[in-house]
Amino acid sequence: MARLSRRDLLQSYSVVFAGQALGVATAETPAAGVARLNHNENPFGPSPRARDALRSLGQVAWKYAYEEVAMLRGLVAEREGVRPANVFVGEGSGELLKVAAMLYSEPGREIIAARPTFPMLPGYAARHGAAVTWVDVDASFGNDFRAMRAKVSERTSLIYVCNPNNPTGTVADPDDLRAFIRAVSRGVCVVVDEAYIDFAANPERATVVDLVKEGANVLVTRTFSKLYGLAGLRIGYGIASDDVVRRLESLRISIPNQAGVTAARASLGDDVFRLATRKKVSECLHFTCGLFDELGLRYVRSQANFMMFDTRAPSAEFVDFALRRGVMIAPVQGQFGNWARVSMGRTEDMQSFARALRAYLKAA
Ligand SMILES: Cc1ncc(COP(=O)(O)O)c(C=O)c1O
Repeated sequence: MARLSRRDLLQSYSVVFAGQALGVATAETPAAGVARLNHNENPFGPSPRARDALRSLGQVAWKYAYEEVAMLRGLVAEREGVRPANVFVGEGSGELLKVAAMLYSEPGREIIAARPTFPMLPGYAARHGAAVTWVDVDASFGNDFRAMRAKVSERTSLIYVCNPNNPTGTVADPDDLRAFIRAVSRGVCVVVDEAYIDFAANPERATVVDLVKEGANVLVTRTFSKLYGLAGLRIGYGIASDDVVRRLESLRISIPNQAGVTAARASLGDDVFRLATRKKVSECLHFTCGLFDELGLRYVRSQANFMMFDTRAPSAEFVDFALRRGVMIAPVQGQFGNWARVSMGRTEDMQSFARALRAYLKAA
């Protein structure tokens, strides 16, 4: 920590919700000892199978990964019960959100999204000329489908639903989400961002991949960056109708890299790793809920690998205070300006977080 300046660390912030300006993480690498609890990564890293697979990568690094991407596409299709033509393998799910925003945005079009949510797709759509209509989360911090539905007009081209929602960590009631998609998706594409679905209490019931099979106009996006610990290798995928996948593909220039595809293929069937990671995150959530309860802080019960909590003052203050103690967390903005988001990390990271939070409240 000592050798890294405060300015360096500040550059590594991710801003959870801005609605307009998006402060996104830079490539800064915090020095050893810094608790990196601001990007919702898996600090335990990739599965042993992925690490093994990556060892032989030197021999294939020279070639584009066309065949390997096709194999991953087939693997995902098989697991999800769709056809390979329904699968888009992207450079992180961020690429999917980007090309979806491009496809459905132009002046005169409108995107609907919750506030707060992960702001990348709406932000990118706005830069392509679309208007963004923000709909505040409901009293339970979840997507307010009734209010969203009321906002749909003939200008609406896309609705973005993050499930579990970042930064609130809430999971939509599966029946409500399905009813909403069935009702609105005739004229509108619904993008359901399932980046954190692997952490949900019941991922099989929470996912809406079955609606793609049913023919609804829905694009489901997933990533290997979170539970699978491959954020640095930029690999994710989307599932949609073959027509939508074809149109998304037409907007891409490059394809994912060998390392990401290789590690993803090795990770996908590793249920031992998946369950072990879920267990670690759930223990960490338990610890963090206990901490907030003890300190009397409000928080949202999360089904993801992060938690949103009320710092009782503009959250930039605590974010800055924690940063000076080597703990990186993310502020939440908009109507939740007093709230911050902390990722679930290693035990020592969470202890550093707890120490910083106690010290902050004591000094307040
Ligand atoms: C909700 C959500 N979707 C998508 C992404 C993009 O992740 P990646 O591009 O690494 O797949 C993130 C990253 O933090 C996220 O929080």
